[in-house]
Amino acid sequence: MHHFQYKGKELYAEDVAIKDIVAKVGSPVYIYSQATLERHFKAMDEAFAAVPHTICYSVKANSNLAVVKNFINLGGGVDIVSGGELYRALKAGVDPQKVVYSGVGKKDDEIEYALNTGILMFNVESEQELTRISEIASRMGKKAGIAIRVNPDVDPQTHPYITTGLKNAKFGITIERAIEEYRRAKDLPGIEILGIDCHIGSQLTKVTPFVDAIKKLKNVINTLKGMGISLKYFDLGGGLGIQYNDEAPPLPADYGTEILAETKDLGLHLLFEPGRNLVGNAGILVATCLYTKQRDEKNFIMIDAGMNDLARPALYGSYHGVKPVVNDQDGVIVADIVGPICESGDFLAKDREVPMFKQGDMMAFMSAGAYGFAMSSSYNSRPRVAEVMVKGDRFEVVRERETVEDLIKGEKVPAFL
Ligand code: LLP
Repeated sequence: MHHFQYKGKELYAEDVAIKDIVAKVGSPVYIYSQATLERHFKAMDEAFAAVPHTICYSVKANSNLAVVKNFINLGGGVDIVSGGELYRALKAGVDPQKVVYSGVGKKDDEIEYALNTGILMFNVESEQELTRISEIASRMGKKAGIAIRVNPDVDPQTHPYITTGLKNAKFGITIERAIEEYRRAKDLPGIEILGIDCHIGSQLTKVTPFVDAIKKLKNVINTLKGMGISLKYFDLGGGLGIQYNDEAPPLPADYGTEILAETKDLGLHLLFEPGRNLVGNAGILVATCLYTKQRDEKNFIMIDAGMNDLARPALYGSYHGVKPVVNDQDGVIVADIVGPICESGDFLAKDREVPMFKQGDMMAFMSAGAYGFAMSSSYNSRPRVAEVMVKGDRFEVVRERETVEDLIKGEKVPAFL
């Protein structure tokens, strides 16, 4: 459920007409609905109300300060994968004790920053990383809280680019190695063992792979117990999918029921790292039709947003629903909706039946709140677009549209030219 609905012929974000936002802020623009963000967070939070838990929003999905702040206000923590994300989360006011730090390539300065900040724990992704964190923490006279990210070798049945929990993925440590690494971690001077972690992939539309992973990790937890290592936290990662087209992912409440059934006797504090599930359907990208052309039975709708603004269709062939901002077109047409970028992969919809858009018509790409702006770039020297948040009948720009001056910020022509 989201709050982008028609009132008459006009598409609204909550109580604000999208066309009024574009009139003020311009096109293209990302628009987020605060009520939808809140609803999704609460659905996840309530699903686990029966046990101690923390929802650590995965900042990478949408790192806008306003979005992060919104979840922090609701009691959330964050899952970060870089010093930059930590910086953002701190700016948004996160409680450091609700920060978990994942990622296979943590740099020394990022580890130091996280230790200085006093984050809850590092999700350790390799043997060498464990050693490095211990060295840095010891040098700083600190102990780093850690969980080992275990790669449970479970197929999440999703797109290969976002499958992370199979043996051949670069993520985490295999079960056999993980047990050895816990044994080693116990005696490392800079380490305090706090938990266990897994994240098997993104856009999962079934609960079974999560349950399979939990079963495997429970064995590890029991083995550790036998070794005298007791844990406080069980981080189950993110990955719960959303509806883009005709998928039918489980509701957070159903996901909750199954996960609780599997974890309740462990007595551990559960951590979750949802990204897409919280923000995906809470955001849209609005763009405007520049030109149309018909060629060899193929129709094109050229718009002012491209793969640099929303990379998902080009990168994963993903589907985003297309809706007219004002529903007044005459009939429908099968067309490719393409951007201005000089690449043939620059499409936002392919061979799609859409309203007969004409020059100047605005359209919304639905479910663009996750991995939308966050993955955008200024390729082709196109300033990144503005982001707006709506709450009820109010809206505010939460990121200014970039300017051409922004594009060359930090660039220099050397003296020898
Ligand atoms: N935790 C870790 C360690 C992750 O790597 C990710 C996502 C998440 C949590 C959040 O996963 P989510 O709940 O959003 O599924 N760019 C791709 C998705 C990449 C996911 C990367 N990791 C896309 O646009 O579909």
